[in-house]
Amino acid sequence: MSCVGWLPTRTPGLTLAIRAAGDRGLTSHLPQMRPVFAPSSDTLFRLCLGLAAAAIVAGPVALMLWVRTPYVTKQFNPVDQPVAFDHRHHVRDDGIDCLYCHYEATRSPYAGAPPTSVCMNCHSQVWPEAERLAPIRASWFQDRPLRWQRVHQVPAFVYFDHSAHVSHGVGCVECHGRVDLMGQVYAVAPLTMQWCLDCHRDPDPHLRPRSEITNMEWTPPRSPRETGAEVRRQLQVEPPVNCTACHR
Ligand code: HEC
Ligand code: HEC
Ligand code: HEC
Ligand code: HEC
Ligand code: HEC
Repeated sequence: MSCVGWLPTRTPGLTLAIRAAGDRGLTSHLPQMRPVFAPSSDTLFRLCLGLAAAAIVAGPVALMLWVRTPYVTKQFNPVDQPVAFDHRHHVRDDGIDCLYCHYEATRSPYAGAPPTSVCMNCHSQVWPEAERLAPIRASWFQDRPLRWQRVHQVPAFVYFDHSAHVSHGVGCVECHGRVDLMGQVYAVAPLTMQWCLDCHRDPDPHLRPRSEITNMEWTPPRSPRETGAEVRRQLQVEPPVNCTACHR
């Protein structure tokens, strides 16, 4: 049923017909006329107006919520790569430290994907014939970088710096989760402004000694907040919350 049906418009044709019938003394034969609109229609009309107003507000609000859903932020979305690289084998089984491959993370804004030469340090000996490693050898011998697809990316108008975080006691696992358990990397954090600010306003529970930055299984000796507060004092951690820190 549409709301328009409830509009209390006058219906002149009907009024005239009734009046004409009355003039000819015919109304007495008609059954008692009921009002065209039931008393409840006024309430319904108001309800419809209310619903329309709510829809006008709800639309944009729904959109604002939608852009923050994992579907849009690409949270939890694994990405297909040119080589089926598996962090579980390399990090867990082979015990390779994150920084062996992502060595830029401690000294530059970017953690970066490792160049093919890093893979070849091992794969010139480990599985040198394997079919699934063929793209690595092609990249190496043709001197063409592998085209790793991005999993995490903040918009261009946002400034992010790995070294600033890593050197102030924020471990990889705080933002990237248990990468060592991921067959294909996916984002566990939404990377929204709210997410950044939540930590910047209250970093204590997220801080750890610098020696444990790449440790995926580290647990604080005391409560995370106490341990973190100590790290904050030691490293003089003071995350910025002013707009220009992240929007330069
Ligand atoms: C042997 C090399 C190697 C090691 C060790 C390694 N990675 Fe990676 N990492 C890669 C490669 C190659 C990619 C790109 C392909 C992919 O996404 O799987 C990658 C991708 C990633 C990504 C996604 C990057 C993006 O595009 O957003 C994250 C996050 C990441 N690694 C974190 C870690 C963490 C944390 C550790 C340590 C627990 C680690 N990596 C150890 C090689 C490595
Ligand atoms: C420190 C040595 C080392 C480095 C560096 C290394 N790998 Fe490996 N990789 C291994 C070993 C050992 C295996 C096989 C054994 C296993 O499954 O743990 C392996 C297996 C693989 C496999 C087979 C699938 C799998 O995960 O079992 C792929 C694909 C692979 N590596 C890609 C890469 C790429 C790409 C890089 C560079 C970013 C790289 N590796 C760097 C040691 C290394
Ligand atoms: C404070 C949160 C945070 C921490 C801590 C952090 N990362 Fe990231 N990481 C991000 C964000 C945000 C991006 C996307 C950056 C961009 O778009 O420029 C990213 C991107 C990456 C990428 C993709 C390539 C790049 O440089 O953009 C890799 C690889 C990566 N991180 C690995 C690591 C490793 C390894 C560590 C630990 C040594 C680590 N990250 C610590 C938030 C973090
Ligand atoms: C888990 C906690 C945490 C998260 C999440 C986090 N940060 Fe930070 N951020 C820190 C800490 C700690 C520092 C270091 C503060 C200091 O320098 O004393 C920092 C510093 C920074 C700085 C200052 C860098 C400099 O050169 O001074 C920028 C910019 C920044 N963060 C951007 C971001 C952005 C953008 C995000 C979200 C995509 C983010 N951060 C998410 C904890 C976090
Ligand atoms: C700690 C880092 C950080 C700080 C501080 C910060 N922003 Fe952001 N901002 C982000 C990130 C990351 C995004 C992109 C992700 C998103 O849209 O949520 C963003 C997105 C935005 C957007 C795009 C619209 C939107 O919500 O998607 C606007 C506008 C904005 N910020 C304004 C501000 C203003 C104004 C301030 C100061 C009061 C501020 N930001 C401080 C990290 C930050």
